[in-house]
Amino acid sequence: MLLHGSISTPPSSIRLLKSQTYNTKLKLRVAAASASQIPAAVAENKLKFSISNEELESRGFLLKQSMEGLNLDQLNSVFVAVGFPRRDTEKIRVALENTDTLLWIEYSKTQKPVAFARATGDGVFNAIIWDVVVDPSFQGIGLGKAIMERLLEELLLKGITNIALYSEPRVLGFYRPLGFAADPDGIRGMVYSRKQNQKRK
Ligand SMILES: CC(C)(COP(=O)(O)OP(=O)(O)OC[C@H]1O[C@@H](n2cnc3c(N)ncnc32)[C@H](O)[C@@H]1OP(=O)(O)O)[C@@H](O)C(=O)NCCC(=O)NCCS
Repeated sequence: MLLHGSISTPPSSIRLLKSQTYNTKLKLRVAAASASQIPAAVAENKLKFSISNEELESRGFLLKQSMEGLNLDQLNSVFVAVGFPRRDTEKIRVALENTDTLLWIEYSKTQKPVAFARATGDGVFNAIIWDVVVDPSFQGIGLGKAIMERLLEELLLKGITNIALYSEPRVLGFYRPLGFAADPDGIRGMVYSRKQNQKRK
């Protein structure tokens, strides 16, 4: 999710869908969790993660919940490695300083970040998840899911009722099992695109 824009529409429910079809022409994907549907386990702070913190640690993956110790040049390299455009590291610093919730995983052998995700928002009603990445050398072993589960739990525990993200079409299948739905209740997200608007002038 590396897009520019914001969503303020508060969808009212989450749809866990097996049969929903996706309009791949739409650039924006919206997903939401409703407070009324927060699983009891989450409310009780007992969400079962697919992989425990202990298991992650035993494999050399250390979970971190603040910017402390995070080398932003290394993080930027992970972004670039997965295909995001290279961004000014200082701007990333400002973005992260303005981020309410962030999680990353350090690989203890290299002491480098290998997975990252963050959410911005108003702290009460809405949050948007950004920059979900796993270093290509570490993809496919559960780190993306592990970090997303924990990010979601943090947001839900804060009582945030709408959690949205932008998804590349090829990654929809990663987000669906985590509870995200495209266009719940027919709601469409919209993005103000500077590029598109400049073209029109
Ligand atoms: C998308 C991404 C974060 C997934 O992280 P990951 O660590 O490779 O994924 P995991 O190993 O945790 O996979 C968890 C589950 O999702 C599935 N999955 C992973 N990527 C998927 C994809 N692109 N499409 C469908 N399913 C996917 C896995 O098969 C696994 O399924 P399981 O739980 O049934 O075994 C990672 O591949 C990545 O960084 N991609 C490049 C950056 C990117 O596209 N970010 C998202 C921008 S919208």
